[in-house]
This record gives sequence, structure tokens and C-alpha cells, in this order.
Amino acid sequence: MRKILVTSALVYANGPLHLGHILEQIQTDIWVRFQKLQGHDCLYICGDDAHGTPIMISAQKQNISPEQLIAETKTSHEKDSAGFLISFDNYYTTHSPENLELTKKVYESLLKNDDIETKTINQAFDEDAKMFLPDRYIKGTCPRCNTPDQNGDNCENCGATYSPTDLINPISTISGKPPTQKSSEHYFFRLDKYTSILQAWGKESLQPEIVNKLNEWFEQGLKPWDISRDAPYFGFEIPNKPGKYFYVWLDAPIGYMASLQNLSAQRKIDVDAYWQPNSPTELYHFVGKDIIYFHALFWPAILESAKLRKPTAIFTHGYLTINGQKMSKSRGTFILASDYLKYLNPEYLRYYLAAKLNSGIDDIDLNFDDFVKRNNSDLVGKVVNIASRLAGFINKNFDGMLAPTLAVPELFAEGPKLAEKISEAYETRAFSNAVRLIMQLADLTNKYIDSQKPWNLAKQNPNDPAVQNICTMGINMYRLLILFLKPILPVLAVNSEAFLQISPLTWEDHKIPLLNHKISEFKPLIQRIEPKTIGPLRP
Ligand code: MSP
Ligand code: ZN
Repeated sequence: MRKILVTSALVYANGPLHLGHILEQIQTDIWVRFQKLQGHDCLYICGDDAHGTPIMISAQKQNISPEQLIAETKTSHEKDSAGFLISFDNYYTTHSPENLELTKKVYESLLKNDDIETKTINQAFDEDAKMFLPDRYIKGTCPRCNTPDQNGDNCENCGATYSPTDLINPISTISGKPPTQKSSEHYFFRLDKYTSILQAWGKESLQPEIVNKLNEWFEQGLKPWDISRDAPYFGFEIPNKPGKYFYVWLDAPIGYMASLQNLSAQRKIDVDAYWQPNSPTELYHFVGKDIIYFHALFWPAILESAKLRKPTAIFTHGYLTINGQKMSKSRGTFILASDYLKYLNPEYLRYYLAAKLNSGIDDIDLNFDDFVKRNNSDLVGKVVNIASRLAGFINKNFDGMLAPTLAVPELFAEGPKLAEKISEAYETRAFSNAVRLIMQLADLTNKYIDSQKPWNLAKQNPNDPAVQNICTMGINMYRLLILFLKPILPVLAVNSEAFLQISPLTWEDHKIPLLNHKISEFKPLIQRIEPKTIGPLRP
């Protein structure tokens, strides 16, 4: 039995979940459910990332305290994730006593290791708001093409990248006034010291595309990382440095540790065993490609410096696009998780994304026409249809009893034959391969049923034992399909287990057929998607 700790990225606590966040959580959840189905000891940890300037500003704008904002957001995030059947073992927050304590501990190790250096730097400052301005709060005219109202780091019109000091007529988006420059003392983590350790670790722990990306960064040379921010800031104050706070990205990944720590108050968990160097446990972080610098450079270097274990692997995914377009509010392609749930069953999205996901970092497109076709033809037409066509004969004519033997053991044997390939596909996050293999099995099954035509036999003699045999065969294949799909479709699995009157399926169950067993009455397990129900979701 493997001991595995898995995370999805901690979501910023200043807005509701959208389908991009859900893509990541679905990918992680399928992998976690697969590991649990295999019988491994796998924990899925997540939470909200509650610190930083945007959250502070957002709370100010709403006239509430940041504490109130992050509490409300956490409730909404948990509700939406639950709506998509995400099975966190714990969902916590970085604004917690556990995280404060762990962050201080890690920081002390960094100090002891002589990995923190002090430098005085100049930064944009808003005299009215009395705060330093992160780049995203400065706007101005593009120095290259003269388009007004551009962000502090790049121009949407001509694509130029620059620093906020290059902007013509820069203004603070907080006060609307031009920023001044002010100097302040900052603390930097000596990331550069860890270059060779990160290179060696990365080769073992990252997808090839990410290794390439890292090599570019290594070539440019790693620089010390600024881990401090000045007050006012919503975060943790740095010990013995009044008015100085830890930058949100320092305590955010430590929040993974804090979430596990918090879980250990409710369940018996040897937390230290997960974090000590050379831990035999496995640690995986699922993240989007925008935050790879943090997870593949800063985080393992911090762990190394703090004398803790490094991640076994970082699993990076691409972005969700809608009809080939980046999600964007103005184009109407920005879909909130809660809006999806108003119209559609979460398992449709889980299945659709699984059918497209693989171990790479390419973007994943949600196309609603394709979505309708795929779910209706696979889930409804190929899988659930097997049970709905056959259950009636068993219930009406055979008292709900499955036959005592398998009519075509070779057909059943296709399941165990595929099981290893399917499990390898899940393990390597090649979910689209898993789905393809499972649908092959469904095709074989439907071919068998169509060739046997139990409905014709039943017309002549409803009690013909051949009818019972064929239906028993088909229902056993249905049980295999549901078992293999269980990580993707947990509710369909639970409802099918109830229909079959069996205890929760585990991976090993694919080896033994279900015979001489009473099943219950068939209730519809899934509905066809009518294109019109998608209605307002469609861009
Ligand atoms: N708070 C940081 C993560 C800290 S982890 C210690 C963060 N939060 S986020 O809310 O912006 O994003 C959370 C996750 O969602 C990230 O992995 C991000 O890549 C992912 N996604 C955000 N938009 C996405 C898509 N459109 N598509 C797929 N994933 C997306 O980053
Ligand atoms: Zn420009």
C-alpha cells in the first residue's frame, strides 16, 4: 500500500470558482479516486489562498474586513467543489494558526541556513493610499504604441512588455494619482544557491515540457526571491520585523502542510512522516502552467533549505478554453462553476474532461456541441443503455436473479485483460486513454447484446434460460464498465452499486463476475442532455 499526499492549487480567496479551477480539481480528483480505488492510502489536501494585496483591496472595496471576505469565499468555494463531486480529505485556508506556525518555522530554518539576505529597493508608492503598489495596480500609456490605460507590465494593444517605470503618465489604480518612488528594506531568499539541486530534482519530477521551460530559466540564472512586503498587507507579519509581511507566495504552499496538519486534528495522521527528508510517502502537486515557477523552483528550494522532503512530482496541466477561446468575461466565455451546476450534471463535465485529459500541458477545450454528443453517445448510448436494456428481463422474468454461470467467459475476460492498461492510463494521467479503452469494452458488449437479441428470444418464451444468460452476461459487463469508470463518475457508480445490490466496488472486483445474485429494480441512472438545457451557458 502506497502512502500518497496529493494537492490541487490553493485557490485565491477573492472570487468564485470558474470552470478553469474545476478542470484542475476534476483532474486531481479522478487521480485521487483512482488511487483510493486501488486501495492506497491517499490523501487529497486543498484550501484557499487567503493572503495578498488583491484580497486586501477587494475587501476594502466591499467595505468588509479581509477576514469576512475570505470566510465567505471559502464557503462558496467548498460548495462549488462539492457540486463537482471533488473529494477533498481536507479543505483549509492559509490564514490559519497552523499555517502561521509552520511559516515561522520554515522561515527560521531559512535564516539558520543563511538563505535570507536583506536589500533596500525602490518601488512605486501611492502617497494617498500610503502603500507600495504591485505592478498590476499601476496603469499608464504604452511607451511603444502610445495606447492609454495599459497595465504596468504589458500592452494589450501591441504586446510590448516593460516595467511600470517605463509607462508614460503612470497612475495608481487605487488613488488615480501618479505613484512616487520610495525605498524600503526587503528580505530575499537565496534561490540561486539551489540551482544544481533544482536541476537534478526537476529531471526526475517534472514533465518534459516543464523541464524545457526550467532550462530557459536556469540559462537566465536564478535570482534571489523577494519574500517580504510592506504594511499595509493582509498576511503574516515577519517575526521581529514590525511592518514587514511574508509575501503571499511564501506562505501559500506552506498552506498545503497546514491543511494536512489541520486534518491530523480530526484523524490519526503522522504528519511528520510526510515531510521528513527521504520520506517514503509520495507527494504530488497538481497545478496550472501559470504557477510552475512557484512550484518547480521556489517551493522545492524552500523545502530543501528547510530540510524537508521535496515533491515526488509536479503535475502541470494546460488551461481550459471555451470553444477554442480563452475564458473571458467580455466574450461571454467565462463560466462560473455555480452557473454550470444550475443547468448541467457535474458528471457530464467530469466525463468530457476525462475523455480529453492526458499527461501533457496543452490547453483543453470545452466545446458544447462536442460535449452533448460525447456524453449522449458514450455515457447514455453505450454504457447506461446496457443496463437499461437488460435489467427489465431479469427483473420481470427471473425474479431479479442473475444466472449462476457466465454464457461467454471470453467476453468477461476482456475486462481483466484491459484492467492493467486502464490502470496504467489512470496512473500516468492519460485519462483519455483510459476512457478509450473502457469504451472499447462497451462497444464489445453492445455488439454481443445486439447479436444475441434477447428481446426476440423473450418474445417467444419469456422464461427461456438463454435470456437470463445473455442478460447476466451484459449486466456483468456493465458492472466492469462502471468499476473502471468509477474514478470519473462516482455518483453513477454509487447508483449502479445500489441497482446491482453490491457493496462499493474496489479495483480487484474486476476479477470475479457477479452470479446467482439478486439485483434490484432498474431506475434511470443518467439522462440524455438536451441541447436546450445548456441554454445560457453556451457562449
Ligand atoms: N493561489 C494560487 C495558487 C497557490 S498554490 C500554493 C493561484 N490561485 S488561482 O486561484 O489563481 O488558481 C488556482 C489554480 O487554478 C491554478 O493551478 C491555476 O493554474 C488554475 N487555473 C486558473 N485558471 C485556469 C484555467 N482557465 N484553466 C485551467 N486551470 C486554471 O494561482
Ligand atoms: Zn503598446
